Amino acid sequence: GAYYIHRRSQSSKRVILRDEVRNILRPFQLTEEQLRRVMANLNTEMTNALKVDNSVENDLAMFPTYVHHGPSGKESGEYLVVDLGGSNFRVSHVFIEGRNRMRLNNKIFLIPHSLLLGEGEKLFDYIAECLQRFIDDNKLSVLKTADYKFDLAFTFSFPCQQKSLREATLVSWTKGFSCTSVVGNDVVLMLQQAIDRRKNLPIQVVALVNDTVGTLMACSSNYRDCKAGVILGTGMNACYFEALDNIPKWKGARDNQTKQVIINTEWGALGKNGCLDFIRTDIDRELDESSLTPHQQVFEKMISALYLGEIVRLIIVDLVQRSILFPGRMQKSPSIRPDYNIFLILRGSFYAKHVADIENDTTDDLSTTATILTSIGIHDPSYDDCFIIREVCKTVSLRAAKLAAAAIAVLINRLNMSSVTVAVDGTLFRHHEQFKQNLSRTLGRLVLRAHRLVLSEDGSSKGSALVAAVDRRLKTSPIV
Ligand code: GLC
Repeated sequence: GAYYIHRRSQSSKRVILRDEVRNILRPFQLTEEQLRRVMANLNTEMTNALKVDNSVENDLAMFPTYVHHGPSGKESGEYLVVDLGGSNFRVSHVFIEGRNRMRLNNKIFLIPHSLLLGEGEKLFDYIAECLQRFIDDNKLSVLKTADYKFDLAFTFSFPCQQKSLREATLVSWTKGFSCTSVVGNDVVLMLQQAIDRRKNLPIQVVALVNDTVGTLMACSSNYRDCKAGVILGTGMNACYFEALDNIPKWKGARDNQTKQVIINTEWGALGKNGCLDFIRTDIDRELDESSLTPHQQVFEKMISALYLGEIVRLIIVDLVQRSILFPGRMQKSPSIRPDYNIFLILRGSFYAKHVADIENDTTDDLSTTATILTSIGIHDPSYDDCFIIREVCKTVSLRAAKLAAAAIAVLINRLNMSSVTVAVDGTLFRHHEQFKQNLSRTLGRLVLRAHRLVLSEDGSSKGSALVAAVDRRLKTSPIV
């Protein structure tokens, strides 16, 4: 009896609460019309940035990557790859033996958080140290001649202005990295110098590759119509093959063999000059202002895994302050339940993984949600609390998927082919099932052209090795 009354009074309260919740979530719900406006704005920014480099007026960088050709199937050889900038830092040893035949052996190394925010040279020294450990542990140097050098492709997933495949100036850090004395410098040179400081490390850095480019290259050896690569992970970005004729700012070679180049869009920067203000919410602005990089990567901050959890957390904090969540439990005195307040105060304590798991909670009593909340310090949440928080997660994740779809739709339209394969990698795409479904569904509504999204497994490592391999092949036997 008592239970029944309790439930009934709770559920009648829930109706009122949900109206209020709905009002708060409404600005996060995007209409198709809004998405089409995002598409138009992104398309305009892409075109503008291909005309001329102007980091003040243009939102996007649209960097030419100096990768002009996909793999032909005739690539071969052995390569090392360092992959920095995703959710993991890894070193790989890749063997390429012709089309579709690649073997990869890799190891993930942890990067101490202090290195991400410290002196740049220390970060590069640490990378060189990991390379040394990898070579020693795998005995890679055994059987090599004394003058042998490994070719290394450097997957470095940050905005870089390139002058060639192996000259790349870091323009700015993104995604929570913020080492000193790297911006404005050639990161290929910095890595090579760190390697050379170790004396006995026989490695030459031969290519710098953005993770999107690796993702595209790895997939295009299996899919001939794969002309774009997208990362939906810690960060979010895309690259695609563009005809040199469509790139007025291109000053490099232009001959019979060089008719196209992969452009790294760095589209996460969209919105820098206000073109996304019509959909940004107070929460987006709050997140931006308190980030390491205010006013930068505005689009990325609405979508990528590094920020999704934080958006949800900020909405939760708002709902708590309005006494909609955990009513009557907001602590006046932190001494009663300090852990409870820590969650609400600490930036970055709620992860994209939590968003995905809560969104997927289909249990009757929302026990999965309750368990997750408890694990991060919110003890004994009520059913209503869980229900509202799941709504918040669904809304934030759906918005991200829709925006990602709008961006990919622009790519597909630009490529102007009868059918396009887009190579995709990143934690959101791989592990967040609901996100992926929403993405595909929205994309289907926004583009008429035939398209498919294909997971490019280990793309950022395998594909970078392929970039180095294509380069080596072209040097020894130029294409006909
Ligand atoms: C950030 C970086 C970009 C990278 C993306 C995905 O947007 O600026 O270079 O490709 O994250 O890792």
